[in-house]
Amino acid sequence: MLRTVQATRYVTPLREGGSLPAIVEADDLGLYVVKFRGAGQGPLALVAELIAGEIGRALGLNVPELVFIEVDAGLGRNDPDYEIRQLLQASVGLNLALDYLPGSTMFDPAARDKAPADQASMAVWFDSFVTNIDRTASNPNLLLWHKALYFIDHGAALYFHHNWQSLDQMAQSAFPAVKKHLLLRWASAIRQAETEAKLKLNESVFAAILDQVPDAWLVPNAGDGDAATRRAGYLRFLTERLTASASFTEEALRARSELV
Ligand SMILES: Nc1ncnc2c1ncn2[C@@H]1O[C@H](COP(=O)(O)OP(=O)(O)O)[C@@H](O)[C@H]1O
Ligand SMILES: [Mg+2]
Repeated sequence: MLRTVQATRYVTPLREGGSLPAIVEADDLGLYVVKFRGAGQGPLALVAELIAGEIGRALGLNVPELVFIEVDAGLGRNDPDYEIRQLLQASVGLNLALDYLPGSTMFDPAARDKAPADQASMAVWFDSFVTNIDRTASNPNLLLWHKALYFIDHGAALYFHHNWQSLDQMAQSAFPAVKKHLLLRWASAIRQAETEAKLKLNESVFAAILDQVPDAWLVPNAGDGDAATRRAGYLRFLTERLTASASFTEEALRARSELV
C-alpha cells in the first residue's frame, strides 16, 4: 500500500523533463520527486507512473518508493517562477511522488556503465509489457544509486489509455520500439525473464495495484465514464498482454539478435 505524506516545502524544479517534476520536502522530513497532477500530460501520466512502477517492483526491479503526496494552496505560493506557481495551483490535492535518491547519476553506457544480464533482461521484458518507450540512450530514465540500477519515469507507459479503442490491439502488440531499448545489449536472458515474470504476475497482483489508483485520476475528462469501468479496462489490458507475452518476448529476442 502506498503511504500518503503532506508536502511542506517546494525545494527545486527538475528541468530535464517536460513535465516539470520537482524536489519537495514532506512532513516525514523525506525528500521526494513529485509528479504533479496539474502538469500538461494530465493525470493519466500519474496513473501510468503508479501502475507501471508497481508492476516493475512486483517483477523485482528497483523502483524508488512511490507515495501519494498532498499539496496545499500554500506550497510555493511565493515562488518567483510564474510557470511553477501555475503548476502548483493546478495540483492542489493529491499527487504522486517517488523517494528522491540523493547523489544518483543517470545510467550512461558512454561512461562505461554496464547492466547485469538478469536485470537488463527483466527491464526489457517489463518495458515491453507495459509499452514504455522511454528507456533509450537519449532518454534513459535509469538511475545508478549505490551501484544499483533504479527504474524511474513510467508516465508514458500504457499508452493505450489515451485511446481506449486500441486496448485489444495494443494488448497483442509485439512492441517493435524495443529495438531502441537502452539495456537491450545486456539482455541475454529475456526468455528466463519471461518465465520469471509469469510466475510473479497474475490477475490478483494487477487488481491490488489498480485498487490503489485514485478514482479522480482514472476519469479526468467529462464523458470518461466511471472509474470502476476504467479499472476493469486496465485489468483486461494487463491480463490479455500477459497471456500474449510470447509475441513481444519473441520481438525482443529478434531485436537483440540484430544488435549483438
Ligand atoms: N527518484 C529520483 N531520485 C533522484 N533523481 C530523480 C528521481 N526521479 C527523477 N529524478 C531526476 O529528475 C529527472 C526528471 O524526472 P523524470 O521522472 O524522468 O520526469 P520527466 O517526465 O520530466 O522526464 C530525471 O531525469 C532524473 O534526473
Ligand atoms: Mg524522464
